Amino acid sequence: MEKILDIITKEVREGFSSCGYEESYGRVTISNRPDLCEYQCNGALAAAKAYKKAPFVIADEVAEQLKGNKVFSSVESVKPGFLNLKIDGDFLAEYLFGMLSDKERFGCEKAEEKKKIMIDYGGPNVAKPLHVGHLRSAIIGESVKRMGRFMGHEIIGDVHLGDWGLQMGLIITELKERQPGLVYFDENYTGEYPGEPPFTISELEEIYPTASGRSKEDSAYKDAAMEATFELQHGRKGYQALLSHILNVSVSDLKRNYENLNVSFDLWKGESDAQPFIPEMVEKMKKEGHAYISEGALVVDVKEEGDTKEIPPCMILKSDGASLYNTTDLATIVWRMRDYHPDQIIYVVDKRQELYFTQVFRCARKTGLVEDETELTFLGFGTMNGKDGKPFKTREGGVMRLENLLSEINDEMYKKISENNTMANDEAQNTAKTVALSAIKYGDLSNQASKDYIFDVERFTSFEGNTGPYILYTIVRMKSILAKYEALGKAVEGAKILPAGTEHEKALMLELGRFSGAVENAYEELAPHKVCAYMYDLANAFNSFYHGTKVMAEEDEKRQAGYILLLELTKGVLEKCIELLGFSAPDRM
Ligand code: ARG
Repeated sequence: MEKILDIITKEVREGFSSCGYEESYGRVTISNRPDLCEYQCNGALAAAKAYKKAPFVIADEVAEQLKGNKVFSSVESVKPGFLNLKIDGDFLAEYLFGMLSDKERFGCEKAEEKKKIMIDYGGPNVAKPLHVGHLRSAIIGESVKRMGRFMGHEIIGDVHLGDWGLQMGLIITELKERQPGLVYFDENYTGEYPGEPPFTISELEEIYPTASGRSKEDSAYKDAAMEATFELQHGRKGYQALLSHILNVSVSDLKRNYENLNVSFDLWKGESDAQPFIPEMVEKMKKEGHAYISEGALVVDVKEEGDTKEIPPCMILKSDGASLYNTTDLATIVWRMRDYHPDQIIYVVDKRQELYFTQVFRCARKTGLVEDETELTFLGFGTMNGKDGKPFKTREGGVMRLENLLSEINDEMYKKISENNTMANDEAQNTAKTVALSAIKYGDLSNQASKDYIFDVERFTSFEGNTGPYILYTIVRMKSILAKYEALGKAVEGAKILPAGTEHEKALMLELGRFSGAVENAYEELAPHKVCAYMYDLANAFNSFYHGTKVMAEEDEKRQAGYILLLELTKGVLEKCIELLGFSAPDRM
């Protein structure tokens, strides 16, 4: 469906042109004085200069021209030359009725041009548990993925595992000390390697930090780990077999963790998958004269004219020939282009890596790894802080594991829910999980991604205010009203949404009409917080309407059925929004 704002704009533009003015003056915006009008146009002020007329004369003419237009209930010209617009009740009711008949999209049209987009998010590191630092990438990335799909794009989400580098050598070294007899360490072994891994996930999660700690104190140990890394990267069979065990054990644990967050990926590729592409890529960069040796290292200059700060060269290989994080990201672009040829790659990564990505993007473009048509986008996010304003920690001051954070919030929510409800224990458990996830995700997503924010458990889990649970509570309330209506044996067959009878009802209807514009804009700006802001406004508008309206006691059956349809639409739109953000609502809470 055409957006309401576009329909109004078209009418006002025609109004200007019928009066002999350039139609571009008919730009309309949502009113910033909702007490005076719903939409406004300030075009007469600009037209006055061009046509050397008083602005209010132009505004008067256009207002006169728009009289009787079926889209408006009133068009007022106000000095010095504003046009204040109110939408016609019948028009709005019919528009919303049209939205309701489209239960999948509620009238939101797909993007005109369908793009193929890869999103690089999650970025967990193998053999290390997920901690709160990984939360934001997962939550924001998942939501951008869902919004993009809703807008009709083909989206491929890739987790981009950190599965390359010293951490692997450290694990191998520690394992060798503990179990030197394993066949993986026997260089003369030629048989098949066992299918069962020689460790469990909890062992693995203990092995890595132990090894990492030891390497900091014992330089011989560190050398051994570096040597093991080198051998692994240069094809030592036993070590590669260990690597795939590490990956398998780690990935199934990661999948379970992400599932609890309602986050999923299409591709489980990692840094290691990029390695085979490095030699040819480096050769090409050298041959085409982009890469040169500087202080022993191979680099590509990426500074550009007009840079206001220094952008250092992108390092491709260290002086010992080893590859780096950069090299891997560039080689990842190589296979992404070869296998998928995306129109855009979006990286959802901590904003502290912004300069790094500027270097990588410039280098990829300069060396021709991507064509001009492929957009490379950095979506950087800020830090999740504790109440003390410092990065979120456990009570003891350690790094907070994601699992522990989730279960803490779950417990908190379970307490609240079982206090207020008589539901059976497993329903309470499940409901607590659903509501807890909304608290975490909404708490995060409602902030502009690039900003740091304070993770405030008490505020985020509250059923009141700008929180996930408040939105869910509003949905649950609507579900219960709809169930009551149905239980009375009533049905809305043949009913229509009626023109608003009160200010609150009109306000709710106007909010509903903004849905497609809000979602479209949120995706364009890769800004899930705009979906949150829209939802919050809509939930508030609904609650004000509901306080002032006796829906169940309404005696006029047609009017009551109209309310019920309005409720269904509000519920549908809110449910669609939370789906786009990656959480869902329970039936009761
Ligand atoms: N594993 C990295 C980290 O923990 C994040 C990866 C981000 N994505 C990328 N393509 N570099 O910092």
